[in-house]
Amino acid sequence: MPKVGTNSAEEPVISLEGVSLSYNGGANVLKNVSLSLYKKSFHFLTGVSGAGKTSFLRLLYMGLKPSSGTVKLFGQDVSTISREEVYKFRQRIGIVFQDFNLLSHLTVLQNVALPLKVAGESALKREHQAKEILDWVGLGNCFNALPDTLSGGQKQRVAIARAVITRPDILLADEPTGNVDDKIADKLMKLFYGMHNMGTCVIVATHYRQFIDTFHYDRISIDRGHVIKKDRK
Ligand SMILES: Nc1ncnc2c1ncn2[C@@H]1O[C@H](COP(=O)(O)OP(=O)(O)O)[C@@H](O)[C@H]1O
Ligand SMILES: [Mg+2]
Repeated sequence: MPKVGTNSAEEPVISLEGVSLSYNGGANVLKNVSLSLYKKSFHFLTGVSGAGKTSFLRLLYMGLKPSSGTVKLFGQDVSTISREEVYKFRQRIGIVFQDFNLLSHLTVLQNVALPLKVAGESALKREHQAKEILDWVGLGNCFNALPDTLSGGQKQRVAIARAVITRPDILLADEPTGNVDDKIADKLMKLFYGMHNMGTCVIVATHYRQFIDTFHYDRISIDRGHVIKKDRK
């Protein structure tokens, strides 16, 4: 399937111009945000609870429309794309939701393989790749389990495996290590870093100080609605 949007290396994969966001006509949660993010970049998205991290990520996967301003993905203004195209654009975006969003009637293996099914991959390839990534995140003994029987940390790893399985061009992870111990958190960070090295634009929302201090990545911080991008020196 041909990729939607542009692919030039220099063009930002995400760009926001004068974007503001409010819910139900209330005060602006995000105020006049303009920034560009490129292929093969890695950003921590930081800010206190309620600062707007999840709202910011929602704008990037077209889960919300901005109240004003323009969001462009892969060079295209998302307000101009059809519903059919939204679906194609989303195939290029891996998302780890804060509340996992696993499908409770599907097994762990089926949940993880779902994006490959949507992309039209063969059953054999789906199973092989889903098993491989589940093994890697330490869930090799849970293939046939239903999500409701898993712990929070296990669900989180299933959600991460599902988000990375297609090697998306954009990976958005909302507090992806909130439910796992330090050793697994470290391993997951290495997975995200590996994705970034292979060309993905990765954004990880976190308030986990240890990461922010250990990994000196670029940062996007949200403070009282203002979004500031700070690139590493
Ligand atoms: N669906 C919603 N309806 C109304 N207000 C919302 C909604 N989602 C988030 N908010 C508000 O927007 C602000 C930012 O929330 P959120 O993006 O969840 O922050 P964070 O992820 O940084 O904790 C908060 O004041 C929150 O109450
Ligand atoms: Mg949040």
